[in-house]
Amino acid sequence: MPAFDPRDLLSLEEALWNAIGSGVQPGQRRALVSRLIASPEFQKLRQSWKESAPDLLVRRSSPNSVSEGGKVGPTTENRGRDTMPGDDQGFVRVAYECLLSRPPDENGLRHYVNALAAGETRANVLRSLVLSEEFERRYSGLPQDCQLCELANPAKWDNEAWVDILRSLGLADDKLSMHRKPYEFAQLIYGCRALGALRDEASIVSVGAGHELVLYWLANHVRRVIATDMYEGVWQELQGREGHPDVLTKPDAFAPFSYRRDHLTFMRMDGRCLAFRDHAFDIAYSLSSIEHFGGLPGAIATVREMTRVLKPGGILALATEYVLEGPRHEETFLPSEIAEIVRQPGLELVQPIDDGVYRRYSYKPIDLYKNPYQTPHMVVRFGDTVFTTVMVFLRRL
Ligand SMILES: C[S@@+](CC[C@H](N)C(=O)[O-])C[C@H]1O[C@@H](n2cnc3c(N)ncnc32)[C@H](O)[C@@H]1O
Repeated sequence: MPAFDPRDLLSLEEALWNAIGSGVQPGQRRALVSRLIASPEFQKLRQSWKESAPDLLVRRSSPNSVSEGGKVGPTTENRGRDTMPGDDQGFVRVAYECLLSRPPDENGLRHYVNALAAGETRANVLRSLVLSEEFERRYSGLPQDCQLCELANPAKWDNEAWVDILRSLGLADDKLSMHRKPYEFAQLIYGCRALGALRDEASIVSVGAGHELVLYWLANHVRRVIATDMYEGVWQELQGREGHPDVLTKPDAFAPFSYRRDHLTFMRMDGRCLAFRDHAFDIAYSLSSIEHFGGLPGAIATVREMTRVLKPGGILALATEYVLEGPRHEETFLPSEIAEIVRQPGLELVQPIDDGVYRRYSYKPIDLYKNPYQTPHMVVRFGDTVFTTVMVFLRRL
């Protein structure tokens, strides 16, 4: 999946400029600008403007409400665009309507019109409005889905902090690439962070880890990560060769980015019988694996072992297959079985599981026999069995 390319920001800035500063029809303009502003790239663009050198527009004189706190970037690169038609007053009015959804107040209008008359660029007026406290208040006021225990949830692609995690993993953030696997990685990090467990000094064990990408990310963020897996049998050949044993001796060959080698260890181990002492870890997690450990008894044995090796207060995170419709299929779990897996001594869910996600979304299950690589890939089917991922976070009592 292609990662975010910073060069995309230039086209976004261009598009924003074209929508506000040029001949787009007024009726279409607001819709176009609001879509651009809602795009994940817009946040990056705003960040890059924030980081660029402070400029005169704010410093010279601030209108009372808008540009305080709004730094603007270099003025030169956008001067060419100022040959666009229309008077400065009209431009400032349109910019206010598009970005702040209101007409300009008298001070604001005067401030920007004077700045433009004194040689400021229109592009910098836009930047100043986008960096204003007023814009920030609106932008950060959008409600975001923050549920931790849930079925793989498309709403997370609208949560900026969550999408930032996806990007930090080097994964695509667009909705058409939506997939359960990136969901699991990002949700794991998001949940552990929200629960205060993702600390510099934390120690983490992953069960049925294969060479999953998130291990390398975690190695860059915590003291110790131990990846455990059988690294044998069908998983050496199946699917993405997720259990390939070469990772035991050549972990770098599987690294998606540079990582702190001395923070990550791979070990061959059965998840049902972990060779660690009690209370050794702050976080124990397993992604898309326990359904392959020998049915319900294998999954329960693994969760009990993960609980045993957790410190009191530690976090156990699990992602596994949850049947939405149809009969139980091999290597999937019915909702009642999921309830049994998480109801183990010494553990409590950090919150009830939101199992209603797919009562709120329409969806077309991907047929895993026919189109295993098709995206969006959130709900899948084997014959009549329709299933998705359930992600849960539990606290060790
Ligand atoms: C679907 S893969 C998932 C790998 C990885 N978690 C990921 O998300 O890419 C399932 C993994 O479980 C491992 N596995 C199967 N039985 C196991 C067991 N009893 N104990 C530990 N790992 C096991 C396989 O070797 C394989 O790597």
